[in-house]
Amino acid sequence: MRIAMIGTGYVGLVSGACFMKFGVDVVCVDKDESKIEALKSGEVPIYEPGLDALVAEGLTSGRLTVTTNLAEAVDGADIVFIAVGTPSRRGDGHADLSFVYAAAEEIAHSLTGYTVVVMKSTVPVGTGQEVDRIIRKMRPDLEFDVVSNPEFLREGSAIEDFMRPDRVVIGTDSARAQEIMKTLYRPLYLLETPILFTKRETAELIKYATNAFLATKVTFINEIADLCDQVGANVSDVARGIGLDGRIGRKFLHAGPGYGGSCFPKDTLALARTAREAGVPVSIVESVIVANGNRKKAMAERIIAACGGCIDGKTLAVLGVTFKPNTDDMRESPSLDIIPALQQAGARVRAYDPEGMVEAGPLLPDVEWCEGAYETMEGSEAVVIITEWNEFRLLDLERVKSLLQRPLLIDLRNIYDPSEMVAAGFAYYSIGRPEDSDAVVTEVMV
Ligand SMILES: NC(=O)c1ccc[n+]([C@@H]2O[C@H](COP(=O)([O-])OP(=O)(O)OC[C@H]3O[C@@H](n4cnc5c(N)ncnc54)[C@H](O)[C@@H]3O)[C@@H](O)[C@H]2O)c1
Repeated sequence: MRIAMIGTGYVGLVSGACFMKFGVDVVCVDKDESKIEALKSGEVPIYEPGLDALVAEGLTSGRLTVTTNLAEAVDGADIVFIAVGTPSRRGDGHADLSFVYAAAEEIAHSLTGYTVVVMKSTVPVGTGQEVDRIIRKMRPDLEFDVVSNPEFLREGSAIEDFMRPDRVVIGTDSARAQEIMKTLYRPLYLLETPILFTKRETAELIKYATNAFLATKVTFINEIADLCDQVGANVSDVARGIGLDGRIGRKFLHAGPGYGGSCFPKDTLALARTAREAGVPVSIVESVIVANGNRKKAMAERIIAACGGCIDGKTLAVLGVTFKPNTDDMRESPSLDIIPALQQAGARVRAYDPEGMVEAGPLLPDVEWCEGAYETMEGSEAVVIITEWNEFRLLDLERVKSLLQRPLLIDLRNIYDPSEMVAAGFAYYSIGRPEDSDAVVTEVMV
């Protein structure tokens, strides 16, 4: 089997490399020449744990190739995946489908025999039908099917997520396309991964409903955290207490500075837009969008309050700027709201991120970038943890104290224990865990 992957970004490159591992021949296509040149010289243009080795294995064996030549890649492929970006359209929140439609037109020019065209990009309900229409109009003679196969991988654990997904969703009415998709995903079927065959529209909506639900869960616990701060409860214990309820589940209950990233912000907006157009507004999702936006903006005020109400002329050390750890992705990261607001309030910001500084540089132009966590702290008033990279979880607290002007740690990811921090002599601020709110007994086995 041979597949072509159009779009070699976070999803396209990971999916392409993983399909190669399934034993399929994969050609990854991107119109960005610098990306393809980098890949050809053995350099993976994004940071994703384990991806370098997988791509190197594919390139060396010849089972994974990369090119800018879409026509060549598509010619003779059994399956052509579309994995291009679908960012928010400026102004109205709708998904910008211009890359998808452009790719569909390019593909239509080059298809030869029967081909399954698979939408991997996250696209609003009805997009598959439109892509079908575009290709059919250009190539009325051609045999093909357009299938929806949304991707659920998370940046930072993308390979594991792809190789061991909770489920695979395939939306198509065509028995012929279904058989080909079954063959492709056979390695996962053998691992007893649930493979859900649905209508194309249903598959498209499953992706948006998933992301909107997860964004809602995050926003819910964030609001509960604010309530904890006011009433002396501890949000980590609340999250554990509700998460142990099998109907709720433990995941996505970590209070923090608000969700960011390449998916939740744009996908919630797009779903709200689709629902409004369909005359059935999703008011919960609309509230989530507003609450999350307000939260990200309010974070700087919290930091300023923790610093005593004024940061004018002060230096702050920021640890982590990417939207989450184990990625270099800066899209919609809370740091993009927080850091400029701190600077506007007069602070000098020194920052360090293990993988995100190249991406972040142009987006946060007035930051002083440092080589490591401790270097950011030299002469700083306080440390602010925005992203919970592992290397920030076990800082040498005595060293931190010796470097700071005063021992003040503002932890927007709740990675330290409040009582331990107080015992270590720190003024410590976290999210939804006010002083004295620690659990006395966290777990009792009977
Ligand atoms: N990033 C994630 O974690 C994630 C997870 C699940 C789903 N998705 C969805 O997957 C899609 C892709 O996301 P991403 O983060 O990989 O985007 P990305 O921006 O990292 O990559 C998209 C790539 O497509 C290329 N491209 C655009 N038009 C092209 C064309 N006509 N021909 C060839 N290449 C073209 C771009 O140059 C870019 O390299 C989006 O719809 C996104 O919502 C993303």
